[in-house]
Amino acid sequence: MIRNQWYVVLESYEVGNKPIGVTRLGEKMVFWRDSSGKVSAAVDRCPHRGVALSTGVIEHGYLQCPFHGFEYDATGKCVLVPANGRNGVIPSALRLNSYPTYEAHGLIWLWWGHTSSQELPTPEFFDNLDDSFFYGSAHDPWDAHYSRVIENQLDVVHLPFIHRNTIGRGNRTLVDGPVVEWKGDKMLYTYVFNRVDDGTPPLKPADLSPKNSSSVHLEFIFPNLWQNYISENVRVFAAFVPVDETHSLLYLRFYQNFMRLPLLGKLVARLAMPSNLYITHEDRRVVITQQPKVSGLKIGEILIQGDLPIIEYRKKRAALQALEE
Ligand code: FES
Ligand SMILES: [Fe+2]
Repeated sequence: MIRNQWYVVLESYEVGNKPIGVTRLGEKMVFWRDSSGKVSAAVDRCPHRGVALSTGVIEHGYLQCPFHGFEYDATGKCVLVPANGRNGVIPSALRLNSYPTYEAHGLIWLWWGHTSSQELPTPEFFDNLDDSFFYGSAHDPWDAHYSRVIENQLDVVHLPFIHRNTIGRGNRTLVDGPVVEWKGDKMLYTYVFNRVDDGTPPLKPADLSPKNSSSVHLEFIFPNLWQNYISENVRVFAAFVPVDETHSLLYLRFYQNFMRLPLLGKLVARLAMPSNLYITHEDRRVVITQQPKVSGLKIGEILIQGDLPIIEYRKKRAALQALEE
């Protein structure tokens, strides 16, 4: 996992009026909302005597530890030590290790960085996925490092094999391209054309161009967001949520805006989820067997032209890792 990035780690609905404890980025974390509804996040450990704060409650908008009732504000500062009295002294060391958060599009981002004192950028999202869409969502656990799950979603070579009976029907094993471009610093765009092998060599990426901006393609925003742009009105979205070195959660959403009636629009999106999950399970069965668990530039794999999106992903990942202190 790479430091100094905004990671989508939860969906908004998961943080209600009680604190919740989850493992993200290899750490036990607590998430809660203050009285204004703003989400806070911190290491799930009370600095007094080590209890999990996620087993506590929200009192007057503060996170209250279940053991001795110490209360913490949204910034992680202790505001009450009941045994010292409400006017008592609060040791300044009584402070949670907290993380900056950001909430939008029904998602919660967490800044996983060395310092929170710097001015943080706003997390990026897909501009072409606006509020006119309805979505259904599901969370799918994978026994895999999130880098491997991401690479699978950028893998355009696997379609006729892994998905031979579903989205990869038609024996289109030959991979023209793929075109891989960066849109800005964070977004990777890839376009591919798979066809039946007629004996001609695959076209080079430079010989291939998407017909227009609404052609089917994949978009990936570092470090963990992806969308399959199926059409102007239909998308599959994923957030690759890192749990620890060997576990991830695939937060999958199906978006549509061709049916715009509120209840029906939501229903149509929800009804598409089982088949989308079925397809990702075709991937999961294979990806969880990959060795080594964590991807990288120098892990001894022999890649081919069709793997270009994966190569780009690895290069960017390595460049960001090199920036870590
Ligand atoms: S352990 Fe949390 S208040 Fe004592
Ligand atoms: Fe797949």
